[in-house]
Amino acid sequence: MIDSKLQSDYHTSGYVLLREFFSKEEVGLLRETAKRDKALDQHSFGRKDGEGGTVRLSLWNHPGQGIYGAFARCDRMVDAAEVLLADEPYHYHSKMIMKDARVGGAWAWHQDYGYWYQNGVLTPNLVSAFIAVDPATKQNGCLQVIKGSHLCGRIEHTLTGDQAGADPERVDAIMNRMDHQWIEMEAGDVLFFHSNLLHRSDRNCSESPRWSMICCYNAKSNDPYIDSHHPRYTPLQRCEDAQILVLGKRELNESGGASDFLDPGRDSSATSLTDD
Ligand code: SIN
Ligand code: MN
Repeated sequence: MIDSKLQSDYHTSGYVLLREFFSKEEVGLLRETAKRDKALDQHSFGRKDGEGGTVRLSLWNHPGQGIYGAFARCDRMVDAAEVLLADEPYHYHSKMIMKDARVGGAWAWHQDYGYWYQNGVLTPNLVSAFIAVDPATKQNGCLQVIKGSHLCGRIEHTLTGDQAGADPERVDAIMNRMDHQWIEMEAGDVLFFHSNLLHRSDRNCSESPRWSMICCYNAKSNDPYIDSHHPRYTPLQRCEDAQILVLGKRELNESGGASDFLDPGRDSSATSLTDD
């Protein structure tokens, strides 16, 4: 799925966008499950965005045996992560970003490695797969990226609201030299992006929700040197792509199978600068 051209685009731009990576049926089952999943809702937490809004998300460390796990563990996804990392990927965490209609908050410019560095991860060889669960448009706060910004290395991060954001002076300087892109996506499209890519999103002032699931992978050789609230190397239990439909259609499937939620109410590290 990821050929040498896409691989080279990833290294030059810091991201690749794969359209229709998941079918409408697959992503439809993910959306239906997530939107009625009480556990996901109960474990969601908010972060003030410093602009008057609040982002809402749920985060879990291990992929699980339900439909969320099938997305994170399926061959299609893991093969792509393996090519981009040029190493065996392991699951670092997954999260559901619940950018609800009218109220969903903004995300400040940041690099994921700006946080993960604090967790004893020595190199930025991590990749995130942003799955559009709902269509993402400029109106409902799609992801924005600065193309090539992963080549700037790690930038200092400071708190804005409850969120850690990249040094604004440096972001402005980078914007003067590199391309600012809005990544509009259809449900089922996936954006794979490097952990040092600068990204953000606006508040959702529209009538359409913009949920997305982000699966994050670390390279086996980049196993963190200390323990943190995200896992050290743990072999990933791959599954066949067909498991997405099998698990998604299971009758009475009331949850997506996430269980080890990170709950910032109980985990003090999760509200500090060190978390994502
Ligand atoms: C994130 O960076 O984790 C989320 C960004 C977004 O969903 O807009
Ligand atoms: Mn991020």
